[in-house]
Amino acid sequence: MMKTFCIRCLFFASLTLLLIACTEEKKERIAMPVTDLSEASLIPKPLKTIPTNSAFPLDQFTAIYTSKNATGFEEVGTFLANKLKDKINLTIPVNTQGANTVERVIYINQSDSIDLKTPEAYQLYINQDSIIINSNTAEGAFRGIQTLRQLVPLKSNDTLAPQKIWPVPSGKIIDSPNFAYRGSMLDVARHFFSVDDVKKYIDLLSYYKINMLHLHLSDDQGWRIEIKSWPKLTEVGGSTEVGGESGGFFTQEDYKEIVRYAAERYMTIIPEIDMPGHTNAASVSYPFLNGNGKTPKLYEGMRVGFSTFDTRKDTVYAFIDDVVREIAAITPGPYFHVGGDESHVTKKKDYIHFINKVEKIVHKHGKQMIGWDEVAIADIDSTSISQWWASEENAKKAVNKGMQIIVSPAKKAYLDMEYDTLSKFGLHWAGYIPVDTAYIWSPEEYGIPKENILGVEAPLWSETISNIDELEYLAFPRIIGYSELSWSIKENRDWENYKDRLADQAPFLDRMDVKYYPSALIDWKKSDYTYETIEKD
Ligand code: ACM
Repeated sequence: MMKTFCIRCLFFASLTLLLIACTEEKKERIAMPVTDLSEASLIPKPLKTIPTNSAFPLDQFTAIYTSKNATGFEEVGTFLANKLKDKINLTIPVNTQGANTVERVIYINQSDSIDLKTPEAYQLYINQDSIIINSNTAEGAFRGIQTLRQLVPLKSNDTLAPQKIWPVPSGKIIDSPNFAYRGSMLDVARHFFSVDDVKKYIDLLSYYKINMLHLHLSDDQGWRIEIKSWPKLTEVGGSTEVGGESGGFFTQEDYKEIVRYAAERYMTIIPEIDMPGHTNAASVSYPFLNGNGKTPKLYEGMRVGFSTFDTRKDTVYAFIDDVVREIAAITPGPYFHVGGDESHVTKKKDYIHFINKVEKIVHKHGKQMIGWDEVAIADIDSTSISQWWASEENAKKAVNKGMQIIVSPAKKAYLDMEYDTLSKFGLHWAGYIPVDTAYIWSPEEYGIPKENILGVEAPLWSETISNIDELEYLAFPRIIGYSELSWSIKENRDWENYKDRLADQAPFLDRMDVKYYPSALIDWKKSDYTYETIEKD
């Protein structure tokens, strides 16, 4: 950029004169246009926004400085610099001392202020000469820089100064999430998705402050994670998928790379091995697991509820112990999801016996158990978490046991439901979920006490989608609304206001090459951004 700047200056005058002129000029305060922070299209909507009706002139004389002795802050600064470079092709130095061209600073500070009440809370102060992000933790700073990324305009205002200026609306944002758990689930079992696909999804989710990605790693149609002590799970069970395509699986190295990439974005990966039902692929690989003496065939259809593990055999629990041990060892996050849904061919008493035993295995390997809402019928611990998807009665049982609930009602939060009868992909057994239906509800409205709600997750089942474009069609734009449902308080959520902010996401989604569903309910902002508008060095 510096080079571009000087070439531009040369156009006007001699090099010497111009360098002096530029140095003088950058010392002057640039008269900024009035911009209203409260009008900014931020998603999720922050807790409090106080506009001051001016702007910070982001330009080539801006630098980022971060707390240096606080873990992760410098990396957050570098992440911000990289994303701004991608967005507006501006190179911003991070913690580079002695750069005499620096005129304005973005500070990313570790702060012990008691106003920062949760680890993800942050304060963002945008002034005419500086931007300050305060947070207790690097995680909070990371959430804060997502807000800042959304505030930086795509286009510079070239009339304000000789150099390009991107005016960032000034004011103060005080923000903290309503729920600690804000997630999506991706089913890589019905159709397999590559490491790069999962990374793209993670990167997009993190822009909207989603912090949990649940990977549904096994089902009747496929086993998708390498287990070194049971290699046939992937050799056999991973070999196909719905529709008979060739399937695939993550090696443990692949999975570690996903975990690392997610951690860089302060996102936790939650592995799910679904059992005792949804286990045909495992039993094809190792037929002793199903206990009915038969070797099942690989399954490429879409039925559910026909498979089960043998819940009375010690060798089945030895197998599960190995699987949980190997996956737990490469999962730094606190959770292990055991599925537990739709075990229609498992007797109730066997199901309860099974979930009780599996919970102990999960604890033995140092993880907290999550299960779909059915697990609440077992005698499980209050530390286990129930993911409510279908049965309000099961959700109540979980509350009575003192458990935390992840709110994922299929009728509202299932990303694989069709938008309407014309949807290109998806199912509709739980209903059609247009973009407004996906947004206009509240996790708190189902009688689950707020203190029992861990958060919201929007699952994306993959029976009808087999590539990233199709994934994006179902997930976007609805997942953006779920981010707001889980981050923003109820008083800050309003469809009419949200739909305008959502319309303004189009340039970002286009730039990210997201094949979102262009719902007619939204007056999508035209993407006038092209890479030609940026001068390349
Ligand atoms: C589920 O949709 N079977 C959890």
